[in-house]
This record gives sequence, C-alpha cells and structure tokens, in this order.
Amino acid sequence: MYCVRKLRDDLYWVGGNDRRLALFEGVYPVPRGVSYNAYVVLDEQTVLLDTVDKSVSEQFFENLDHVLDGRKLDYLIVNHMEPDHCATMDELVRRHPEVKLVVNAKTLTMIQNYFTFDAPGRAQVVKEGDTLTTGRHTFTFLMAPMVHWPEVMVTYDTTAKTLFSADAFGTFGALGGGVFADEVDFPRDWLDEARRYYTNIVGKYGISVQGLLKKAAAVELDMVCPLHGPVWRKDIGWFVEKYRRWSTYTPEENGVVIAYASVYGHTANAADILAMQLAEKGIRPVAVYDVSVTHPSVLVAEAFRYSHLVLASTTYNAGIFVTMENLLMDLKAHALQGRTVGLIQNGSWAPTAGKLMGEVLGQMKDMQVLEPTVSVTSAVKDDQLTQLGALADAIAASMG
Ligand code: FEO
Repeated sequence: MYCVRKLRDDLYWVGGNDRRLALFEGVYPVPRGVSYNAYVVLDEQTVLLDTVDKSVSEQFFENLDHVLDGRKLDYLIVNHMEPDHCATMDELVRRHPEVKLVVNAKTLTMIQNYFTFDAPGRAQVVKEGDTLTTGRHTFTFLMAPMVHWPEVMVTYDTTAKTLFSADAFGTFGALGGGVFADEVDFPRDWLDEARRYYTNIVGKYGISVQGLLKKAAAVELDMVCPLHGPVWRKDIGWFVEKYRRWSTYTPEENGVVIAYASVYGHTANAADILAMQLAEKGIRPVAVYDVSVTHPSVLVAEAFRYSHLVLASTTYNAGIFVTMENLLMDLKAHALQGRTVGLIQNGSWAPTAGKLMGEVLGQMKDMQVLEPTVSVTSAVKDDQLTQLGALADAIAASMG
C-alpha cells in the first residue's frame, strides 16, 4: 500500500524507510534506520526529484503511482547519482518511458556508467543557473560538487522557495511518521545522528559545503527537502548554523572528548582519572569512550562537536593500538582540524604510541598538541597522577 505525505498543495514525499540496514555504505551503523527521500511536484507537467535505494523500491513505486494517479511522469531531476538515490532509475525509465532526465553533464556520464538504457536520448542537460518551467513552478539548478560526489547539484523551486538539497541537510534515521523536522524534537532526538551523518559523509568536504551554503544564503528558503531525514520548514536558520560550524570545523561547544584504547584497563584508568580531574576543575562536558567498543563514526562526530580531544593509547606491536590507529586515520580522512589535543600513552617496556599519535596529528591542519604527553609504564602510579594533573591544568588553561 502507498505511504506518502503531502508536504504542500502540490508537493509530495514519496520515499521509503529502511530499518533493516545494518551498515549504511557498508560502514556506518544505522540503528535507527535511514530514509531515502524522493519528492513529486504535480504541476502542469509532473516532476520527480530523485529516486531511492533498491531496498525501498517497491514502496517507492507504489507511492509514485498513487501520487501520479494515472498522469504521465514528465521529468526526473537527478540531483545525486549515488545508488542510494539512483538505483531504481532504470526501473523508473522502464515504467515511464516518456520521462525526460534533467541532469548535468557529469551526471549524464555517471548514468551511462551505471546503466545501459539510452540516457543521452532522454536527457535535458543543465548547468549552473539554468531553469526549467513546468507550469506554475520554475526550478533553478545550482551545482554543488563534492557535497557529496562531484556531480551533485541542488534544485531550487523559485516559485515555492523550496530547496531540494540532495545529501546536504540530511541525517541518518528512518522517519517515524513525522516528516517535518518541527514534528519531532530534532535537537533532542535527531541532532546527534545528523551530526554523525554530516561529519562522516561530507565532513571532508567542508569548503564545498561552504560554497553551497553561500548559494543557499542568496535565496529565500521556505522549505528544505533533503534526500535523507526530515524536511525543514521552520527554524531552517538553526540547522544552517550547525552546517556553518561543521563545514568550517568550528566546535559547537567547549568540551573534552576522551577516547582511549586499553588492553588490560590501565590506559582506561588513566583516561578515567583525567576525566575526574577535569570535572573537578569545572570543565563540562567531558565524554569518555573506549575506542574498541565505540564505532569510529560516533567518535568522528564527537571530535567535530567539541573543542578538545584527548587520545589515550597503549602501545601495541611497537605502534598505536589498532582501534586507536583506525580512529586517527578516520579523523584525518575526514579533515578534522583546529582542535586542541592531549595525549596519553602506555607501554610496558617501550611506549611509542604518544610519539606516533603526535606524528599523525602533525599531518592534520591546525591541531595543537598540549604538553605534557602523559606516559604510563604498565599501570598508573603517583608520578602519572602528577602528569595527568598537569595535562588537566593545560586543558583548563587552553579553554580560558
Ligand atoms: Fe545519500 Fe551521497 O548519498
């Protein structure tokens, strides 16, 4: 049965929710599922904006058939060619052989790479600023390369002041009936997943996101329709401000995230002691994570959120413990920058993790490593208590 939502007089959500997917992109846990949003505008000509992942194709086609109600589909606007949004395109073309594909040149190449149907024969190729009028509505196309793939564009409905924003302003999490962000408690229930989505999916491409924000700032926004998660029609500026911070690698708040990798509990002990010392100094919030049982995507998001990061790792195979090394590589890959970092190393006979973590941080932009690096030899002793106190002082001083 169809499951659609009317967003406005002639705008419909026709996507689907997947709550069985374990790993988005084969990497990111999505315990609350994910939505694949697609939208239909019923104008004098009919317009579909993006399709969906294969996992929800049956629901999507039922939704589309219901909304079209026998009308032919005139246009598919393709904002993004990642298969979570385009995997059903060939089936769509089979069902709607009359449909024209509104694409940019890069998108057209990608369609031909993925599919064998005659894409050029049905393509209307657009570039920055081009428009499409379908009756009452005029759509303007704005290129948004690397948010999150090179072909990405966004579509602005100048009539309805609605931005179809592709992956931008999306979030992990299946929709639970509330399609609009103002129908849920977004700051309480969705922001963490929105941050984890942003930082892990497009965190690396901050400059590209800033370019898109500039274009979005130049138009009036009554509604933002992303490809994942809730649609925005209220407090859009609040979410745009989050994007401004994330894309400029500006912490959302002062705070310390302590991530430790510990084999027998002594490095964890050092991390816990530091957390207590920070709390005693009045520093809030302090969040402590064991990197061996916490998915790196959570820690990437936390590192984007807070101003300070403490990495505590035991030495393993004369290197950084594997789960900590993995986290560091992830932070570097996602271009985290401008953070203040404390280091704790442990090693029963030859501690090297601190130096090696410092080398990776040195390859990242504007990472300030505080003194001292706390060095534990097997277990925390009085001497390390003093060092941990000194690191807590340094963190407090750097927070002003
Ligand atoms: Fe949701 Fe980049 O695809």
